[in-house]
Parts: sequence; structure tokens; C-alpha cells
Amino acid sequence: MPEIKETSTGALWHILSMDRGDPEFDAHPGRGRFNAAFFRVMDGYIDWHLRRHKENVFAGLPDTVVEIGSGVGANFRYLRPGTTVIAVEPNPYMHRSLRLAAARRGVDLDVRDVVGERIDLPDASADAVISSLVLCTVTDPSQVVSEIRRVLRPGGRYSYLEHVVAEEGTFTRGVQRAVRRPWAWVFEGCSCERDLQTVIRSAGFRSVEEHEYRIHSPFLNFNTQIAGTAEA
Ligand SMILES: C[S@@+](CC[C@H](N)C(=O)[O-])C[C@H]1O[C@@H](n2cnc3c(N)ncnc32)[C@H](O)[C@@H]1O
Repeated sequence: MPEIKETSTGALWHILSMDRGDPEFDAHPGRGRFNAAFFRVMDGYIDWHLRRHKENVFAGLPDTVVEIGSGVGANFRYLRPGTTVIAVEPNPYMHRSLRLAAARRGVDLDVRDVVGERIDLPDASADAVISSLVLCTVTDPSQVVSEIRRVLRPGGRYSYLEHVVAEEGTFTRGVQRAVRRPWAWVFEGCSCERDLQTVIRSAGFRSVEEHEYRIHSPFLNFNTQIAGTAEA
């Protein structure tokens, strides 16, 4: 456990946030259920903000897709009915809603209760991997992206939408710092301060096409985002 050099309030938040091992996912019964309910209830609202970008990056996906951190199935609406989704989702509290969403959208679902840091698929076995709002929450985003690249066949694609750290010196960056600990505690480790552009660009993909944008939600720290596709 890292040394804690913080105020007592800071240290308390730190300890409360430390219920996750490395890199296992230690699901928290209260917050796991809360997050499943939160993403179910907020699904339409979040999708309203992200739809335009998701339609763009998730267009033309193949018949079988690996999804990292599927949550309660927010991305199934972007897949053709009959698509097979191999869902790498270590939070058991998401699984029931995920299965219901799959049934509703005609998705053939294969849930893998493993972390993205160790995807239980062979090298070069996938045509496409997708994720949304996940690299902010995983324990080790570089390791997850490296695993994504490993399981993609040459020419396969990783299509993603993520929220990222805001530019230094901006008001949004200040908000991201201010709410860091309570946000991470409520949303099970989520950080709004990750430079995921660099993580993805450093992973050795043949090409990365990405755009940055801003949404206008009341969750200011969440508004700076990227969406893109990387080719293996
Ligand atoms: C903020 S939710 C996003 C869910 C969904 N992708 C969406 O867009 O609504 C983050 C998801 O990542 C999952 N997750 C957290 N750590 C993970 C890890 N190490 N590997 C894979 N998924 C993880 C969580 O269980 C949760 O379902």
C-alpha cells in the first residue's frame, strides 16, 4: 500500500478508495449495486450526450465484438441485432442488467468475469474491441490497452469513447482536482484525470484516428472526452 501523505480527510478518502487489489476487481456490494442502478437510470441521458460520437466510432462493427467493461449494456444499441458480444465485465452487480439489455437488443452475450488487464482470449483472435467510459476506471489503463492490442488480429480495430483529463489551467481541470476523491469513491475508482490519448497512442497500434470534444453535462469533470479508432 502506498505511503499516505495527506490531510486526515484526504487519507480517509484514500483508504475508502483502496478496496481494489491489483489488478483483480474486488466488487463492492453497496457501490457495485449503486453503479449498476446509476447507469441503468442515467442510460438515456448519457446516451443523449454521447450518441453522435458513438454512432461515428461504432459504425460498421463486425458480427463478433469484444467489449471491455460493458456495464449494463449501454453500447448494445449501436450493434446489429444478432451480434455476438464477448463482454469482459468483472463487476457481478452489472451482469443481470447486462443480460437483460442483451436480450432486449437481440445481442448474443458471452460474459467473461475477468479484468481487462488479463483478457482470457488468445492472441490475434478478435476483429474488433470496443469500450466506453472504462479506461478511466480500470486499475492499469496501459495494461488494458496492451491486452486489447494483443487480442486483436492484425488489421483489427479498437473503437473507444472515453473521458480524459482537461487542459492544465482550465476551470474544468480545477474541478477535476477538487472532486477527485469523492468521485473515485462513488464511481469505484473512476478518475477524470487520465491522459488516455497518450496511453492509447503509446500502445503500438498501426494507426490511431481520434477526436477530442466537450459535452455540456452538469458533471463538469466528465465533460472533456475523446472518441476514436485504433488499428492493430
Ligand atoms: C463507468 S462504467 C461504464 C460502463 C459502460 N461501458 C458504459 O459506457 O456505460 C465502467 C465499467 O468498467 C468496468 N470495469 C472496472 N474495472 C474494470 C477492469 N479492470 N476491467 C474491465 N472492466 C472494468 C466496471 O465494472 C464498469 O462496468
